Order: sequence, then C-alpha cells, then structure tokens
Amino acid sequence: MSEYLRARGSHHADPCSVAEQGTRHTGRVSAPPNLPGIVSKALLMSLQRGYVQVTRSETGRLLAALASTRTGTIAECGTGCGVGAAWLRTGAPAQTKVITAELDGDLAHSVMEMFADEDIVVMHADWTSLREHAPFSLLFLDAGSAKSAPREGVIDLVGGGGMVVLDDFIPCTTWPPMEGGRVDMVRQDWLDDKRFTSVEVMTASDTSVVIAVKT
Ligand SMILES: C[S@@+](CC[C@H](N)C(=O)[O-])C[C@H]1O[C@@H](n2cnc3c(N)ncnc32)[C@H](O)[C@@H]1O
Repeated sequence: MSEYLRARGSHHADPCSVAEQGTRHTGRVSAPPNLPGIVSKALLMSLQRGYVQVTRSETGRLLAALASTRTGTIAECGTGCGVGAAWLRTGAPAQTKVITAELDGDLAHSVMEMFADEDIVVMHADWTSLREHAPFSLLFLDAGSAKSAPREGVIDLVGGGGMVVLDDFIPCTTWPPMEGGRVDMVRQDWLDDKRFTSVEVMTASDTSVVIAVKT
C-alpha cells in the first residue's frame, strides 16, 4: 500500500494532491520529487477509486530500474490501478513489451482505457493466462494468488536470465525469514532456490522486495 494512502487514510485522500506524494518524500528518501506522468495518472485513478493496494513509489522506482535492463516481454500479475505497470513501462526500453493481467473486470477495463495511448497491454484475465505470452524477462508477482501459487508453474514462465520480483515483505533480520511469528515460506523458498540468484532489498525501512534471477 502506498505510504501516501496510508498516511492520509486511504478512502478519504484528496485526488488533487497526487503531486504531493513526491514532495512529501523528499525529506525522507533520496528520490527526485516528481513522479513520471504515467505513474501519476495511475495513482490518481487509485485515489479516485479508493483503491489502496497500490505499489509504493520506492518499490516502483526499483521496478523501473530493473525493467530498464530487460528485453523481450515483461509481465505483471495483478494490475490494480496500473501503478506497477506504469513504473515498468517508464523504465523499460521502448522495444520491450509490457503486459499486465487483472482478474477484476471493472479495474482491468478502466486501466485499459487509461493506458489506451500507452504501450502497455492490459488483459482482463487470471494471471495464469499470461502464459500465452511467456517466456518473460521479468515477472512481477503482485497478486496474492500468484505469490502463493505452486512455484514450478511460475518458474516456467521466466526465461534464462529472467527475473521474478515479489514485493510487500516486512523486513526481518533472521533466517529463516519470519513474519507474524511464523516462517515466511514464500520468501524463504524464493531466496533459497538454487536455480536462482536471489536477494531481498529493502526499498524503505518497513518494506522489502525479493528479486530472483534465473541462472
Ligand atoms: C496488490 S494489487 C495490485 C497492485 C498493482 N500491481 C500496483 O502496482 O499498484 C493485487 C491485484 O491483483 C488482482 N488479482 C487477484 N487475483 C488475481 C488473479 N488470479 N489474476 C489476476 N489478478 C488478480 C486483484 O484484483 C488486485 O487488483
């Protein structure tokens, strides 16, 4: 969930204040205050709809940086209001295809309309339908069902050298990683899979991202 939305109480945020998200961060993170236009557009939609599950800007900047190294096709499971897809498109080279799948028809079609002039393919579909566009050079797992899906089915979707990215972990200093008093099996399995070179990166003091690169 975005820091901006949490700070304000998600359902009552003022859509006109989207631009503030960047400036409010300047005292606490070393990132330029301005957000890419396409990201602002997606954030505005999330504010107008009271949609709180948006990708945080800190994580979005990481997605953009990773996408900038990718060729072929990159994909996202769970479009939401399009924030993650917007960051991916912002970073990816022009020739790299960006595709995202959302199960909720209303959301999917609204984002399709919003991105009509952007080079982003939005599918109204279960994320498993992304398979027809595989292999991916980057796969962002941002739907709960994708994160908890049997991993072999996900691994098949990524080509050699491709990366799987998962966000919204709570940083911890133990191995195995713990969350809520239990071993976080999803994080452990991605970090411990010998077919991948993996790392957990804190994008802010309270949230981390796992990047697993298929070797
Ligand atoms: C965490 S939100 C996505 C946030 C978005 N990626 C962003 O960057 O702001 C998860 C989304 O996944 C969608 N979702 C849930 N199950 C899904 C499925 N099986 N296939 C595709 N999307 C799904 C939900 O409707 C929800 O919009």
